[in-house]
Amino acid sequence: MANQSDSEFEAARAEVDELRENIARWADAYYLQDAQEVTDAEYDAAMERLRALESEFPELESQDSPTHTVGGRASTLFAPVVHRERMLSLDNVFSAEELEAWLERADEAAGGNVRWLTELKIDGLAISLTYERGRLTRAATRGDGRTGEDVTENIAYIGAIPQRLERDGHDFPEVVEVRGEVFFAVEDFRRLNALQVDSGEAAFANPRNAASGSLRQKAEGKTPEKLALMRDRLSRLSMYVHGIGAWQTPPVENQSEIYELLAGWGLPTSPHSKVCASVAEVLEFVVETGERRAEFEHELDGVVAKVDNLDLHEELGATSRAPRWAIAYKYPPEQVHTELLDIRVGVGRTGRVTPYAVMRPVKVAGSTVSFATLHNQEIVRAKGVLIGDTVVLRKAGDVIPEVLGPVLELRPEDARAFEMPAECPECGAALRPMKEGDIDLRCPNAESCPAQVRGRVEHIGSRQGLDIEALGEVTAAALTQPDSTDDPPLRTEAGLFDLDIDRLVPILVTVRDAETGEPRMNEDGSPVRRTPFRVAEKTYPPGSGAEEMTLAERRAAGLRKDYLAYRPSKQAQKLLDELEKAKTKELWRLLVSLNIRHVGPVAARALADWFGSLDAIRAASVEELSAVEGVGPIIAESVVEWLKVDWHLEIVDRWTAAGVRFSTPGHPGPGKTDDIEGPLSGLTVVATGTLEGFTREGAKEAIIAAGGKAAGSVSKKTDFVAAGPGAGSKLSKAEDLGIPVLDADGFRLLLEGGPEAVAHLAGEED
Ligand code: IVH
Repeated sequence: MANQSDSEFEAARAEVDELRENIARWADAYYLQDAQEVTDAEYDAAMERLRALESEFPELESQDSPTHTVGGRASTLFAPVVHRERMLSLDNVFSAEELEAWLERADEAAGGNVRWLTELKIDGLAISLTYERGRLTRAATRGDGRTGEDVTENIAYIGAIPQRLERDGHDFPEVVEVRGEVFFAVEDFRRLNALQVDSGEAAFANPRNAASGSLRQKAEGKTPEKLALMRDRLSRLSMYVHGIGAWQTPPVENQSEIYELLAGWGLPTSPHSKVCASVAEVLEFVVETGERRAEFEHELDGVVAKVDNLDLHEELGATSRAPRWAIAYKYPPEQVHTELLDIRVGVGRTGRVTPYAVMRPVKVAGSTVSFATLHNQEIVRAKGVLIGDTVVLRKAGDVIPEVLGPVLELRPEDARAFEMPAECPECGAALRPMKEGDIDLRCPNAESCPAQVRGRVEHIGSRQGLDIEALGEVTAAALTQPDSTDDPPLRTEAGLFDLDIDRLVPILVTVRDAETGEPRMNEDGSPVRRTPFRVAEKTYPPGSGAEEMTLAERRAAGLRKDYLAYRPSKQAQKLLDELEKAKTKELWRLLVSLNIRHVGPVAARALADWFGSLDAIRAASVEELSAVEGVGPIIAESVVEWLKVDWHLEIVDRWTAAGVRFSTPGHPGPGKTDDIEGPLSGLTVVATGTLEGFTREGAKEAIIAAGGKAAGSVSKKTDFVAAGPGAGSKLSKAEDLGIPVLDADGFRLLLEGGPEAVAHLAGEED
């Protein structure tokens, strides 16, 4: 019995781990790369499943879980800005019934007779604008809700956003944070994309991506032409305010009156909001808006209903991610028809072969779509689609649509069923299920199937792996499947830490769709190609001596800058620098980077904490491994099996030879780490944000070396939190739980002298 529930728990842990990993990756793509890997509906379904598992297995709860956080992350491209007041997200409902039930509940909680303010949910990018004595002093994106990115410089080019508030008789508060949505109006988006295509650039997938991409550009390093283009784009952006952040005492009672006040100061407000006296009126607004959805000046993905009264906002409060006084109703996805031209298969990191639909290009949510994943052959069968069918696609305000099924009336006579290919489309190996009874087919050529190597290398660079910003989708493809050579810099990941700049510079690569591996196309039908590691420069012919001549001499010799030379791009150096740093990252990250099946961040942390080194893990038996809390037999077996394979060991050996450190300094060897005697014996400490004088790993190592347990998330069991600038949800959680918070100096005192040394500081925190 005990065993049965243990393995259930382990399976749930593995699933939770995978869901969190996926959600984090999708969110990163969405917020940082202005790309979308899955449909909104798939994202929402993954969140629902994660919520269900967390409530069934409360031990798997974690404050860092996406179910408790706002979703975004501030990139490192812009300076971090701590919002004066947190920027929350909104909870969603997806049906009229759910909406009605939510409104009724909120009405009751607020004492009845609530006045509602209904608005359009603009598909754009949230912005926080700080005005001090009427002057715009800062503009920031939402980021993780606590810390956003400073985009003040770029905002200056958006004409719709006033730099100074107008006086309309009402005094400005000393400081006010105004919240709003930056977006491209449909018409401006159309013009922008026409311009992009004219100037030889790729068109934007949808207005949201375009808005985010435009706002989050750096002027630095741009040629004057590119800079002008960037500013032109910015100038076309619009903004509507939809709330306030920090404001000492607003002089009015209702959010609708706040909008009037803000409009009086010259801030743009939406002409489409409406005050509703009852739940019935809100529902009516939702229906009417849905019918007129295509008529508005901007794209919308739903309606937001807010309690109008500001005192009730205070009273109802908020969860860690969303207010309890507002709700977003998302419209059901729209559907379009197109022809299913073919079903092909793509190969993922683990060799899993996934069928996908190739369709006649069709406009969906502002973008032209040609591919959609079909998951596996069972799903293809269940959907009942044949090649040649007209199919129904779901439009969910996304880039990547979902095939729902065939339009049977339109089925042509020669429509044919999809058959799973017998061979891997990327390496030709015979496909087979991993074990009997598996639905999924896999390519068994894990070592050298280029699609699998590419997937693994990308995984190594991901946030859950070694978190190497310069090692993303395109770079991983460039290193493993460049166009320009049959001899890629990486045949497997074994050579990752031996790369040098000369190998990188010449690379030319075709950009591929992450899911399908199909080349991305330019508007003119040619494949999108990049040279990520070099920049071209016009110069004088080499050896001509032109550099030493005067202008007149050069003229006389007929020398012009007509020779194209290449030099390494910043990206190339950045990749090498980041790889160098990655060599001494935390052990758990290196374990994740080995791409061992079932070893995600949670299992890797458990293994790293207990064993302290890869050598110790290698010396352990399946029984010893599975005895570790959070590991269990499935993971243990997978680790032992992985370590038996020669080419896997070659990865470990070559990485080690290149200086990769597969151990945690100061770790006492297998066993409970709190056995070390030191000032922090028996204490659990969480380090978060940038602690001056410590790297992230350094802080953890210091905690372990002082005998403490370095935990990744804050809970009631946490004794201290060391927090520096950029600390996010962990800091707020510590404050909520009343856990003493230390800055870098306090942290140093704690490490040297234990809790007594900081007793006076912790007292001050209260
Ligand atoms: S109010 C505290 N109103 O939707 C709640 N948000 O999915 C603040 N959004 O982060 C949000 N239109 O960026 C509000 N009329 C509207 C909105 C709106 C779009 C965005 C906003 C928010 C996101 C949540």
